[in-house]
Amino acid sequence: MSARPQVRRVRLEEWRQIRDLRIEAVGDPAAGIAFLSTPEQERTHDDAFWRDRAAGAAMGADAAQFIADDGARWVGTVTVLLRESGALDHVGRAVAHDRADIVGVYLAPSYRGSGLLGELVDAAAHWAAERGADDLTLDVHVDNVRAQKAYRAIGFVPTGETFTSVIGPELVMRRAGSVGA
Ligand SMILES: CC(C)(COP(=O)(O)OP(=O)(O)OC[C@H]1O[C@@H](n2cnc3c(N)ncnc32)[C@H](O)[C@@H]1OP(=O)(O)O)[C@@H](O)C(=O)NCCC(=O)NCCS
Repeated sequence: MSARPQVRRVRLEEWRQIRDLRIEAVGDPAAGIAFLSTPEQERTHDDAFWRDRAAGAAMGADAAQFIADDGARWVGTVTVLLRESGALDHVGRAVAHDRADIVGVYLAPSYRGSGLLGELVDAAAHWAAERGADDLTLDVHVDNVRAQKAYRAIGFVPTGETFTSVIGPELVMRRAGSVGA
């Protein structure tokens, strides 16, 4: 671990770093209970896909990706997606009320347990709150106990809702009035 990482939104031109961090994340030993895609699937996407992903992540009105940069490399990421009532979310569920979803959560192993997750989520929470979304929601696999503990530690609680995604049984957690929580 080097200097305290800087947390910020990704930039339009950073599509290669966005791609590389995603491939690193979905190759993590915990990926089978953390992410909905594999390195093989991510590697099938062409440069245009990643440029488009970067445009949404950097400049989108309904999505934003935040990363932690330790000066040498990107060491963490969180993405927030604004969901409008009536839309379908990333696993095809109808959205009952406007909400903000946290997805794509990943920390490089050397930064786990460092508190960096809270900084990334707070950055996403501020961005969402500026757009009128004060509550954050996320999905976590029932067997991803480390992630559940980490989310609880920064104010998320289970809503009681469960569902089955392509990686198996997941539960929903929520953080109300999230900015500064
Ligand atoms: C999930 C993740 C962001 C959590 O951040 P983190 O900084 O690692 O969180 P912590 O290290 O504080 O771990 C949280 C708790 O789980 C505990 N823990 C660590 N490894 C564990 C394990 N294998 N099983 C159960 N608990 C574990 C920690 O001791 C800590 O407990 P504490 O709150 O009592 O101190 C990070 O581990 C990660 O990127 N994992 C891989 C990808 C992933 O799972 N993403 C989430 C998808 S929903």
